Amino acid sequence: MLITNIRYLVNVREENNLLRGKALADLPILENAWLKIENNSIVDYGLISSLQEADFKQKVFDAKQAVVLPSWCDSHTHLVFAGSREGEFVDKIRGLTYEAIAAKGGGILNSAKLLKETSEEVLLELAQQRIDHLIQLGTGALEIKSGYGLSVDGELKMLRVIQQLKHQNNIPIKSTFLGAHAFPESYKSNRKGYIELLKLEMLPKIASEHLADYIDVFCEEGFFTQQETEELCELGKSFGITPKIHANQLHISGGVQAGCKVRALSVDHLETIGEEEIRLLGEANAPIATLLPGAAFFLRMQYPPVKKLIENNAAIAIASDYNPGSSPSGNMNFMIALACTQMRMLPEEAINAATINGAYAMGVESLVGSITRGKRANLIFTQAIPSIAYLPYSYASNLIDKVMINGQFQ
Ligand code: NIG
Ligand code: FE
Repeated sequence: MLITNIRYLVNVREENNLLRGKALADLPILENAWLKIENNSIVDYGLISSLQEADFKQKVFDAKQAVVLPSWCDSHTHLVFAGSREGEFVDKIRGLTYEAIAAKGGGILNSAKLLKETSEEVLLELAQQRIDHLIQLGTGALEIKSGYGLSVDGELKMLRVIQQLKHQNNIPIKSTFLGAHAFPESYKSNRKGYIELLKLEMLPKIASEHLADYIDVFCEEGFFTQQETEELCELGKSFGITPKIHANQLHISGGVQAGCKVRALSVDHLETIGEEEIRLLGEANAPIATLLPGAAFFLRMQYPPVKKLIENNAAIAIASDYNPGSSPSGNMNFMIALACTQMRMLPEEAINAATINGAYAMGVESLVGSITRGKRANLIFTQAIPSIAYLPYSYASNLIDKVMINGQFQ
């Protein structure tokens, strides 16, 4: 199929590269372009002026001046969950903090309780509904974490649901084992016991059943220490599972240092970082700094110092953190708008961070994340809009006209 009459074809790249520092502001765009798709992949692109009459002999689709972008790559979600937590949301409005809610058995433990009462079938159904909705909002690749099971059976249940989601969806999905998300009620005064359970029972079982692409740890005061994080990640690596870490969300937690030490693919959150963390993330081959502006927005926290990170040559990705507690939305359009309005990222930087760098942050960069020959045709078609900046500028409007997954309009 030939797609013609594209006003701007966005993020067109001959080569795949993770973008660090200044390179994030470079968003290659073809103006007045065409795109050719065969089977489910991008095979070629160019300027309208280069089309010949013979090109119109194939099936032609008129994009009617749409902006065409690669689908959003959301590299950090917790979208398998049961129930919802709007009661805690109201508690927060009344003045309780995220930590205070967690300390009284709310937060992650509340979701763990709800998950235990919910069957695998229902969990799958709920997660599928969320994914269907996200695809319509332009998401074309996803990472999904466990972490509300907090027991051998519970974590396996979540990871099996994610496995099933991989099978029944035609977008790339990666799974992450986040058993180290919180200490369950029954191990409250036996932290060591829970860590042994993670190391000796959960991880070996999950690895032998190939249920996880990544391992994650919530490295945070009151949750898992830097040392515990490093040990769990190293053990994961010995099973061939790469770490991604929840780092520095609420406190200077050592999460960034742990991530650098264990060579994590990404360190995520980073609301609370200092000069040392910024320096570390700027080193060549440092983990990707995945920022989750939805969580900072919803919890009314400070946003990560993205300008400084970029000045120091960090690789930035943006993800939704979709979860029932700290970011009950997986809408990447809104995350990009927050990145621009609240963190002062340029639209070009935010779009790169939510596409090519997001793809790298979950190991799907050979499949998606840019308009590159051979990549899947997972695309967003906007309404006729005047510029790229118009997307985050019109932050509360849905400007997506159509989405395409594997060459098919959805
Ligand atoms: O990334 N901070 C840890 N985990 C999630 C929140 C999970 C929850 O509150 O249910 C996050 O923000
Ligand atoms: Fe998270």
